[in-house]
Amino acid sequence: MKDVANVGIGIDFGTTNSTAAVFDGKTVSLIHLEAGSPIMPSATYIDADLQTVTGQEAIDRYIEGNTGRTVELVPEVIGRATLAVGAADPSGQRPAETLSQAVYGESMIDTGLRGRLFRGTKRLLGNQSVRRLMVFDHPFRLVALITPILVHIRQELEVGGIEVSSACVGHPVNFEGRDSKRNEVALNRLGEAYGHAGINDHRFYPEPIAAAVSFLHEQPGAEGDTILTVDFGGGTLDFCVLRRRSGNAFSVVATHGIALGGDHIDQRIFSRLLFPLLGKGERWRRRGTDRQEIETQFPFEDYEDLLLNWAVTYLLNQNRYTTPVLECISQGGEARLKFRRLRELIQQNYSYLTFQAIKDFKAELSVADHAVLDIAEIDIEAALTRREFEDVINDSLVRVEQAVLETIRRADIAAKDVDIVLRTGGSSLIPAVQHMLNQHFPERVVNHDPFTSVAAGLA
Ligand SMILES: Nc1ncnc2c1ncn2[C@@H]1O[C@H](COP(=O)(O)OP(=O)(O)OP(=O)(O)O)[C@@H](O)[C@H]1O
Ligand SMILES: [Mg+2]
Repeated sequence: MKDVANVGIGIDFGTTNSTAAVFDGKTVSLIHLEAGSPIMPSATYIDADLQTVTGQEAIDRYIEGNTGRTVELVPEVIGRATLAVGAADPSGQRPAETLSQAVYGESMIDTGLRGRLFRGTKRLLGNQSVRRLMVFDHPFRLVALITPILVHIRQELEVGGIEVSSACVGHPVNFEGRDSKRNEVALNRLGEAYGHAGINDHRFYPEPIAAAVSFLHEQPGAEGDTILTVDFGGGTLDFCVLRRRSGNAFSVVATHGIALGGDHIDQRIFSRLLFPLLGKGERWRRRGTDRQEIETQFPFEDYEDLLLNWAVTYLLNQNRYTTPVLECISQGGEARLKFRRLRELIQQNYSYLTFQAIKDFKAELSVADHAVLDIAEIDIEAALTRREFEDVINDSLVRVEQAVLETIRRADIAAKDVDIVLRTGGSSLIPAVQHMLNQHFPERVVNHDPFTSVAAGLA
């Protein structure tokens, strides 16, 4: 056992990935949370026996048991008082299953479901109306979905001989949501989860400031006093401006954060690129009651929310959604291929795989000039240049730039006054983001450990 008094522990529970690090007074070391990697997907899988697994194993178990099978839905009448909710909706306005209940007045049970996967739970933490998520018949509190991930982290630290009596733990500047109390609500929930995981003594610290601390530790000789951190992750975009005083001491001049991350970008890619390949904008011909042929636009908008929320896409397996798709397939013509894809995606539950393919495609475009979004399961092969991709995600890029400028404004400085810009977080690897920062802060932008900077700084 190491000398506990000298070990600082940092834990970064992220929307997409989690990491942990220890500081022995001299060096910072990352803890291996997965086989051979310090980066653990923030994922929890709960099977029908309510057994829980976390990390990559959770994702593998979900894909193995829940995709590529025909979904069979059975309606279940629910009591009025029951609050059953699913994953967040893309705009972050409402939990999807609550939405579906409001519309249908019933919840649907997927009888073949082997288990439920939860990812991006951090995005829901600030949403007071999301209290519980249903796993089969059992409502799970959000806290209970996060705790297993934190327990895993504590155990991996202990395997490394580190006693986890206290830890410094990260939080975004602002959690996602519209509620004015969202940060308070989220921190309470997160704190409770750390407590349940046996990490009772935890101090919260803003993630972008932690990223700057790790930079100053790694490069104490770096020149310049005014530092801007841009941490662009899976769920949030976080900023801070620090002014260095003597040595590595600093004061915080400003912080800023918005709910924009890689998850939002993935949904954007899905709607801009894939919706048209799945039948959006096509015509729907069918016989009316008087046997006259009616032709209207296919009501694709009815499918959109559920398609963008992979955790609840299975709810599309209801006649009122599947019948129009089947009618469009039988009407023939060129659009038939598109509706066949839509049918496969819905029936075989390929939604998660589709998002996975989108993530890989996006990452490929961070290193290559063109890439192919290849989803063999639904017969999609879309080639795009990086330029075209940037056009697809342009709205997000504009928001990133506006938020950077807003941060500078809050710090009451000009872009030229910033000496060092730290670019961190997985989404900061997007070349267009780098390019935008280089334009505002020429020759001052540093790529700083995109996936591990926060945990290292917290330690
Ligand atoms: N090479 C890449 N190019 C573009 N995006 C990437 C790349 N690699 C990872 N990403 C995206 O980065 C995001 C994950 O980044 P990161 O691990 O920093 O987030 P996080 O810390 O889990 O989230 P947050 O800090 O928002 O809670 C994902 O959305 C992922 O798709
Ligand atoms: Mg992060």
